[in-house]
Amino acid sequence: MDMLERLFQLLFSEQGEKLGVTLAKGILFAALLIFLFDFIRSHTKKTPGLHAAPKGKGHGLVAGLDKRGREIFVPETSDWHAAVFAATGDGKTSAVAVPTLQTWQGTGLVPDISGDIESRVRNPHKLVVRILEDDSVPYNIFAPVDACGTIGEKNEALEQLALQRMPEPPIMDDNARYFLQEGRKILLAALIAFYHQGMEYVEICKTIKYSSWRELFRRIDATGNVEAKALINAFEGGNERNIAGAFETCVAAVDVFTRERLQKTIRRPKPGETAFTADSVEDHLCFVQIPDAELERYAPVMQMVFAQTLHYISARPAEKKTPLLLLIDEFVSMCKGGKFDLAPTLRKSRKKRCHVMILTQSVNDIDMYYGESERKSMMNNFTHTIIMSAHDPQTQRWVSDMIGEQIINRRSVSTNYRQVTRTRSEQKESIINPADIGRMRNDLMLLYPGGYLKLKRNYVFKNPKRKIALKKD
Ligand SMILES: Nc1ncnc2c1ncn2[C@@H]1O[C@H](COP(=O)(O)OP(=O)(O)OP(=O)(O)O)[C@@H](O)[C@H]1O
Ligand SMILES: [Mg+2]
Repeated sequence: MDMLERLFQLLFSEQGEKLGVTLAKGILFAALLIFLFDFIRSHTKKTPGLHAAPKGKGHGLVAGLDKRGREIFVPETSDWHAAVFAATGDGKTSAVAVPTLQTWQGTGLVPDISGDIESRVRNPHKLVVRILEDDSVPYNIFAPVDACGTIGEKNEALEQLALQRMPEPPIMDDNARYFLQEGRKILLAALIAFYHQGMEYVEICKTIKYSSWRELFRRIDATGNVEAKALINAFEGGNERNIAGAFETCVAAVDVFTRERLQKTIRRPKPGETAFTADSVEDHLCFVQIPDAELERYAPVMQMVFAQTLHYISARPAEKKTPLLLLIDEFVSMCKGGKFDLAPTLRKSRKKRCHVMILTQSVNDIDMYYGESERKSMMNNFTHTIIMSAHDPQTQRWVSDMIGEQIINRRSVSTNYRQVTRTRSEQKESIINPADIGRMRNDLMLLYPGGYLKLKRNYVFKNPKRKIALKKD
């Protein structure tokens, strides 16, 4: 009791007040030290290039969650491309693609074939193109041509269109190459002749499909367009079977654009209407939807969307600074209509401020379309790789090799009747065993230029700051 009384007296005396102030200062100082220590620890570059932010605040490539539940991300302003690997249902879309898109500080292009991306992303610059639906935002294939000033420039842009529709695969026999090149000339002649007569892209495709080659040549001739006529005149006197073969190749290339379901979507916009065009990525986060079940048949349309956008990006003016994102979920399904030529975009990305993110199941899948050596050279451009799971040995081995090896010191003791021998040896072994990559449950592995990092998956439906009720609009 006596003690307590004395303590009270001390507290309310002048001396006590001084002690209190000193104590408060001490606590404040200690708190400041702890804060500083924490700040320095989280900002010292143990993980160079990676940033941490509270849930829902990460932006750029939003890779996953650290032990403290913070979002680990690589901002839009850094130079990066990312490849994401996971078996089906392991979270590519809901733990990486959607978080990245939800807070993306820029614009871009996202094919959404399973329809599970766009509905979970709110963005004021969203432009949704539902290619097969009548009331879709129209896709104006002719926009880059319309934007040209002179007839010569327009014809060059039409040549680009013909090339995008009938590109030359790297491996092709001479026979097939001949028909492709000659078929492309017929397409170009038709595009030049009928574009300048005010026809829409799909009308031109129909004109090609529903004519014989003789009739088509006659109609091109009748337009009086000198450039178009020159292209078909080159066929004069040629072997008719060869001309018919080239014409067939051309018809096969435009066939998809003559289908009924595209007639209301692929067109120029009406006055005041917004259309999707090659340069829409400049102002919009564009989602292009073709349902998965229809992708096989309509893949050439998606190919065209990509070819035109990639071409725009390759010539993107230097003053354009908005970060662009090409996020290609289900990458391998997207290759069904022919693989994407991503290499130039991947290489020029720094100048063009464009980031590419591909999401797929395994490296084997990519090899199916690109082959091992092209896949390897493509993967060299991906600065960041996220692995959530990999069940095939090839992907497991590849990831394990990328993480690297460590040196293990081993000691062994052997005895015989005369002596005990102790030996020490250094052995190299994988930091992560390939088999362990198959079983990561709720984790993922982020490989980045500074090394590797194990993170928790950032499922949007489990993250209260990112959960958006699935809505259909
Ligand atoms: N809103 C939700 N609520 C609860 N679970 C969900 C929700 N959305 C997805 N899931 C589950 O989350 C897991 C990951 O799904 P996600 O679609 O992201 O995988 P994925 O790797 O993209 O698969 P796929 O290759 O088939 O596209 C799945 O098991 C899925 O059932
Ligand atoms: Mg998915």
